[in-house]
Amino acid sequence: MGLLKKIFIALVGVVLAFWFYSAREDFKPEILQEKRVIVTGASSGIGEEMAYHLARMGSHILITARTESKLQKVVARCLELGAASAQYVNGSMEDMAFAEHVVQEAEKLWGGLDMMILNHIGHTYFSYFDGDIDHIRKLLEINFLSYVTMTVSALPMLKESRGSIVVVSSLAGKTRVPFTAPYSTTKFALDGFFGSLQQEMTIQNANVSITFCVLGYINTESAVKTVSHVMKVAPAPKEECALEIIKGGVLRKREVHYPRINVAIPLLLRDWAPELLDFLTRYSLSNVEQIKHQ
Ligand SMILES: NC(=O)c1ccc[n+]([C@@H]2O[C@H](COP(=O)([O-])OP(=O)(O)OC[C@H]3O[C@@H](n4cnc5c(N)ncnc54)[C@H](OP(=O)(O)O)[C@@H]3O)[C@@H](O)[C@H]2O)c1
Ligand SMILES: *[C@@H]1O[C@H](CO)[C@@H](O)[C@H](O)[C@H]1NC(C)=O
Ligand SMILES: *[C@@H]1O[C@H](CO)[C@@H](O)[C@H](O)[C@H]1NC(C)=O
Repeated sequence: MGLLKKIFIALVGVVLAFWFYSAREDFKPEILQEKRVIVTGASSGIGEEMAYHLARMGSHILITARTESKLQKVVARCLELGAASAQYVNGSMEDMAFAEHVVQEAEKLWGGLDMMILNHIGHTYFSYFDGDIDHIRKLLEINFLSYVTMTVSALPMLKESRGSIVVVSSLAGKTRVPFTAPYSTTKFALDGFFGSLQQEMTIQNANVSITFCVLGYINTESAVKTVSHVMKVAPAPKEECALEIIKGGVLRKREVHYPRINVAIPLLLRDWAPELLDFLTRYSLSNVEQIKHQ
């Protein structure tokens, strides 16, 4: 098929996707009142903003990350903003016993769970793949296996409450993005696991929704620090991003795309014009020569 034809089909797809998405928006913040929600990686960035939104909506919140001092501040702010309750557990998601512990803590506090937002990621590099396999293994533990562990522990409670799992991923978990090999690996793994699990739950009539969030470039401190020198596009606001993720979870959407168009176009091109997408992805980066070879 000619390139122009492919692009035309992609554009028709964009219009259809736009219509489809905007046709069903009936989010009411009251739905989250008194709901029991876990947010991981909530000491900074998008996770922190999600905690504040949930606090304003009157949820019970349990947040987690490694840095206790930051978690204490986020909890204090959540209480000011109107959370029904706010607690934290600190520890590292490298440790599967800790991942399990977080869910047990929710059970101890609330005796159930309505929503689990899996958002944390371990530190990684933005550069040519350096051959370090141990780093991939460690990142798989933090970014992927801890998500699976928490899901296994939380499923009985979520089935009981007909609750929701929200998985925060990235365009690098759906398309080919250079300089992110270890990170991209872990995000693709999430799509495979949670996609298969969702199918099984549909077959078994288990009413637990799984919302997979595909994010573009967002203005969190860590992302800006890591990639602002090579990104041609400006980052999108983390506050709005956090709200879109929560809305998607509440509306039991299959996927959240944010910023919508920046994600929808690559996803359409991925199947219709993959070489064009590869080119555009490389083209969206500047100063690539500054990135160090290993
Ligand atoms: N920002 C973007 O441009 C962007 C783009 C696409 C996707 N995303 C996705 O959005 C999510 C949030 O990203 P963000 O930019 O908000 O990241 P961030 O600000 O760096 O937050 C990462 C969180 O994870 C925690 N964390 C780090 N290592 C951990 C460990 N070993 N165990 C437990 N917690 C750990 C951090 O707290 P401690 O250091 O205190 O543990 C922090 O709370 C991620 O899933 C990311 O992949 C972001
Ligand atoms: C939580 O943080 C405190 C203070 O930094 C630390 O002493 C403690 O070991 C941490 N707990 C876990 C489970 O990592
Ligand atoms: C699944 O649970 C949600 C939330 O409780 C409810 O709105 C929806 O109707 C349920 N769907 C089915 C098929 O039972």
